Formats: sequence, C-alpha cells, structure tokens
Amino acid sequence: MTNFALVVAATEELGIGLLSTLPWRIPKDMAFFKHVTTHVPQGSDSATQKNAVIMGRVTWESIPPKFRPLNDRFNIIVSRNPSYDMKLADSTDQSTVLVGDMEDAFIEARKQNSPRVFVIGGAQVYKIAIKHAKCTHIILTRVRSKVDCDTFFPEISDEEFRLASHEELEAYVEQPVPKGIQTHKELQYEFTMYVRKMFM
Ligand SMILES: NC(=O)c1ccc[n+]([C@@H]2O[C@H](COP(=O)([O-])OP(=O)(O)OC[C@H]3O[C@@H](n4cnc5c(N)ncnc54)[C@H](OP(=O)(O)O)[C@@H]3O)[C@@H](O)[C@H]2O)c1
Repeated sequence: MTNFALVVAATEELGIGLLSTLPWRIPKDMAFFKHVTTHVPQGSDSATQKNAVIMGRVTWESIPPKFRPLNDRFNIIVSRNPSYDMKLADSTDQSTVLVGDMEDAFIEARKQNSPRVFVIGGAQVYKIAIKHAKCTHIILTRVRSKVDCDTFFPEISDEEFRLASHEELEAYVEQPVPKGIQTHKELQYEFTMYVRKMFM
C-alpha cells in the first residue's frame, strides 16, 4: 500500500463541518486544496498519472454537483451501500469509483497507479485513516478564528505526529505557500502540515 496524506481545514478545536457542509468559505484555501490534491509530484508523469482523492459519501454529497467529480483527480467514494447512486452527470465517467470500505479505497488508488493519494474527509473517514501507519502527512489549514462546528477531526497525537516547518510544507506541495496568519474577511487561518514521526 502506498503512503497517503490527509487534507483538512480545521479550527483550534478541530471543527471541520456544520450541517453537512463546510462552516466557512476561504477562496485561497480552496485554491490551495486544489493545487495540493491535483499536483503530480516531480518524478511522476503528469500526462498519464492522476492523484487519487478518497472521501466519505457525505463529503461527496457536500460538493456541488457541477464541481464533482473533482477534476484531474481520481475520485474514490466510500459507502456501505453498494448500490449508492453517485448521480454522475456523465455515466461514462471513468474517474470516479464507489468502494465499500477504506481498504478497498487504497486498493483502487494503487490500481490507478496514482502518484499521491489524499483522504479528503469527512470526520468518519479521517478517523479511520489517521490511525493507519501509511498516513504520513496531515496537510492542515488551521482556522484560527472561532467558528461553530458540529463535526470534528480526530485528535492529532503528539506521539505520532510532529508539526513540520513551513519549508517542509513547501517542499511537500512543491510550490511557495503563504507563511503565517492569513486573513479572509473576518477569518484568520494558517497553512500547516504534520508529519508522522516514524516516517522521517
Ligand atoms: N473542513 C474540511 O476540510 C472538511 C473536509 C471534508 C468534509 N468536511 C465536512 O465533514 C462533514 C462530513 O463528515 P461526516 O463524518 O459526516 O461524513 P463522511 O466521512 O464524509 O461520510 C460518511 C459516510 O461515509 C461512509 N463511510 C464511513 N466510514 C465507512 C467505512 N468504514 N466503510 C464504508 N463506508 C464508510 C458512510 O456512507 P453510507 O452512509 O453511504 O454508508 C458514511 O455515512 C461535512 O460537514 C463536510 O463539509 C470538512
């Protein structure tokens, strides 16, 4: 199985969602998410390879239909309902697959020869994925402002993960990343990354 990363935006209290949607809209974080999950790293072939994004059924449904599947990425949707209708606009779409559990999601990602694999939520799926030894990175946009949430990211154990430097984050995503506290309207946020200790 290949290593994978979690990508998430969370408050200090690890809030990530409200009423089955995102509690905020931060355009620069959405652009960052798109870059991180789409960018095929150096040494891989961007003409033939696509990264994989793994998400729970609720997160899939939270993406506006016109934006799903997420383009230029292989989309893997996890549901216990084998006849779940993903309501794909294009029934011949080859970039989206439904799987019955997380292990099958990782098998699918490997079949696709995806250079990078990202688990993109929500809470149920993060909770399983963060315990996995192959979960080597957590790309965390920390929302520093107080925001009401009803869905939470699992605790990030100090024993298992360490906060990486900004330079490590930039090296991982292979592009410059704004450093320090950023502001969008009334919201403050910061781009951070955690790395599994045993991995380094
Ligand atoms: N801030 C962020 O970065 C971020 C990112 C993503 C999502 N979110 C937010 O998180 C919330 C959604 O999170 P959530 O925890 O409610 O839902 P979720 O994890 O997106 O999806 C849960 C669903 O996934 C399926 N599932 C979960 N574990 C499974 C397993 N072990 N095997 C098979 N299927 C499994 C089940 O689908 P079935 O019921 O069909 O069986 C389950 O109902 C929303 O508010 C969303 O906006 C935030």
